[in-house]
Amino acid sequence: MLENMCKMLDKAKKEGYAVPHLNINNLEWAKYILEVCEQQHSPIILGVSEGAAKYMGGYNTVAMMVKGLIKDLSINIPVALHLDHGSTFEACRKAIDAGFTSVMIDASRFSLEENIEITKKVVKYAKKKRVSVEAEIGHIGGTEDEISADIGYAKLEDCIALVKNAKIDFLAPALGSVHGLYKGEPKIDFERMKQIKDELNIPLVLHGGTGLPDEIIKKSIECGICKININTELQIEWAAGVRKKVADDQNVYDPRKIISGGEDRMKDAIVTKINLLGSANKA
Ligand code: 13P
Repeated sequence: MLENMCKMLDKAKKEGYAVPHLNINNLEWAKYILEVCEQQHSPIILGVSEGAAKYMGGYNTVAMMVKGLIKDLSINIPVALHLDHGSTFEACRKAIDAGFTSVMIDASRFSLEENIEITKKVVKYAKKKRVSVEAEIGHIGGTEDEISADIGYAKLEDCIALVKNAKIDFLAPALGSVHGLYKGEPKIDFERMKQIKDELNIPLVLHGGTGLPDEIIKKSIECGICKININTELQIEWAAGVRKKVADDQNVYDPRKIISGGEDRMKDAIVTKINLLGSANKA
């Protein structure tokens, strides 16, 4: 069932696990993810970046495709369709109008005051349509140098100001995670994560789930993380499978066969993540 993220993340917060946010890039990815999550009885957040939405044709195409898959594959687990890193009010509005059930407004590149203003506007629009809203503060994916110098980490008082003023449902505080592969050891500020959790009592989101050791994922969940975003890791697994398929069968030309070369590796990786996050049988 397509729904917003409120119920699924409140349950995750109460019961101490995290719901996977897996980015989709095409029809096959959406289908594989839904099939695995249904089989594992795990709730799922399908994350769609602005670039991925554009690649697939636009927000309407994505929303209709996901709704079609849920119906045709008889998917009964809770599914949220979520705009990942919406950069403007306009992008969020388009996704909401197309039928997305959740949006992230990422105005973290602006000053705190501007971030609050833009986020407030998105919340006002989203609430009318029962769409949930995530916002970001700090700088996720800062360079290693910035992170070492403690630049870009979310400040507790800024988190409080954003949540209280903009009335968002979930917060993604940048606390040392990066998108893509980590160059050195990830340096996550768990102490601040716990302070933010204790102070605000809303579900927290961890971006940059790829490459984080299992202990960091588990500790993050203990410190208030209820949603973990993963993209690059699935891309790597899927691409390795496709490469092998093409290398093993030089005569393959059916796109369905080439693309599904990545299916098994990607599905196995999803099962592993669901078990690590603890979301199996929570649907
Ligand atoms: P990774 O690509 O590092 O897994 O991050 C995904 C993400 O945070 C999407 O918002």
